[in-house]
Amino acid sequence: MSIHVVLGAQWGDEGKGKLVHALSENYDIIARYQGGANAGHTIVIGQNEFIFHQAPSGILYPNKQCFIGNGCVVDPLSLAEEIDKLDNMGLHPEKRLKIAFNAHIVTSLHKKIDEHQESLRSEGNKIGTTHRGIGPTYMDKIARSGFRMVEFFDLEQLGDKFTRLVSDWNKQHPDASISAQEWIDSIAEHRDRFVKMIDDVSEICLDAICDGKKILAEGAQGSLLDIDHGTFPFVTSSNPTVGGAVTGLGVPPQSIKRITGVFKAYTTRVGAGPFPTELTGEEGERLRQIGMEYGATTGRERRCGWFDGVAAKYTTRLNGFTDIAITKMDILDPYEEIQFCTNYHRDKADKFQFALQNPETIKPQYQTITGWRDSTIGTTEFEKLPAKAIEYIQFIEKYLDVNVSLISTGSDSQHLIRRF
Ligand code: IMO
Ligand code: MG
Repeated sequence: MSIHVVLGAQWGDEGKGKLVHALSENYDIIARYQGGANAGHTIVIGQNEFIFHQAPSGILYPNKQCFIGNGCVVDPLSLAEEIDKLDNMGLHPEKRLKIAFNAHIVTSLHKKIDEHQESLRSEGNKIGTTHRGIGPTYMDKIARSGFRMVEFFDLEQLGDKFTRLVSDWNKQHPDASISAQEWIDSIAEHRDRFVKMIDDVSEICLDAICDGKKILAEGAQGSLLDIDHGTFPFVTSSNPTVGGAVTGLGVPPQSIKRITGVFKAYTTRVGAGPFPTELTGEEGERLRQIGMEYGATTGRERRCGWFDGVAAKYTTRLNGFTDIAITKMDILDPYEEIQFCTNYHRDKADKFQFALQNPETIKPQYQTITGWRDSTIGTTEFEKLPAKAIEYIQFIEKYLDVNVSLISTGSDSQHLIRRF
């Protein structure tokens, strides 16, 4: 009957994968609505760790339907690898996975251009992209060129178009030339399986809603990486914010009944761009070590810092969160004191976007919160958390004026407090 959107409320890597997996039990369909293989959604079940870049995080349930919406950009080769792995586990995702016919395709040329554009950016202007071809593929979409999944039905035509584009590129970039045929041959191997999965995802979603089914829409990246509302130009090229779910799945806005924002109990960012509450030096290193903050997609070190209340208020307003999740609570277990940024201490301090135009003028003001110095790992009941940990959650709720419905207390999918 309705759609529940779960999306990142910071700069990505908030732990969306684990939450979406845990919530999936109660949904019929799990659908990704934007982004591509730049995402790295990690799910830990016992001794096993799964990282998904494109498959929705509900894919591990053999009875759940999973969709990749038109707002996503699909790298067929990387998706085929994910499907193969799941196939080997006996999960047969092909039977349950639908890909929107109008989602755009990431080709080997898009990945090359991504790398090339980053190499041309001077120091200080580099975005630190994941090199997964995301920006160039969305550029082609907006320019009304590029390739869509439906073109898998006529690979000859797709091949001709791609060969022409690659030949132009190779003429202009003899040092970085690529082989069109290699990519065409690789995707041709997967033609039959993709053709079976390509469908009208928007229509299927609408039918499902009319049939009373429940859809979980899974965001990738985070609100502060949103192309419109994030810390431009240090952003990704799609809309992780809630509107992206409407356009990225082709569903009416009134079908969205719940919007859960996912926050880490602190903040991380991978790649370049402003980060007012960043901890540098030893303090940053300590948080990185305890939180194991290394990128799931690129293996890069994540930048770490305290919870940014100003940014959080901004993304809460922007998305209209009905409730929020706090993840990696256990990482703060050893801290004597926790800092929470309540103000940027400058004119128009509450105007997140304005402040970010001159990040060097921001002087984050912190409220010190006493730590709990006790293990929260594996806690599944709110009342069993240490008193000071409960206070931290209540402080966040009061500050953002929204209920915390889920608290993650460890990497395992069972380590979760569900409150509502
Ligand atoms: P998940 O879904 C964190 C960052 C990159 C870079 C910027 C642009 O795991 O939360 P792109 O390759 O998208 O053009 O890079 O966005 N970025 C992410 N950071 N989590 C992600 O995904 C990200 N996907 C992209 O590091 O700064
Ligand atoms: Mg990630």
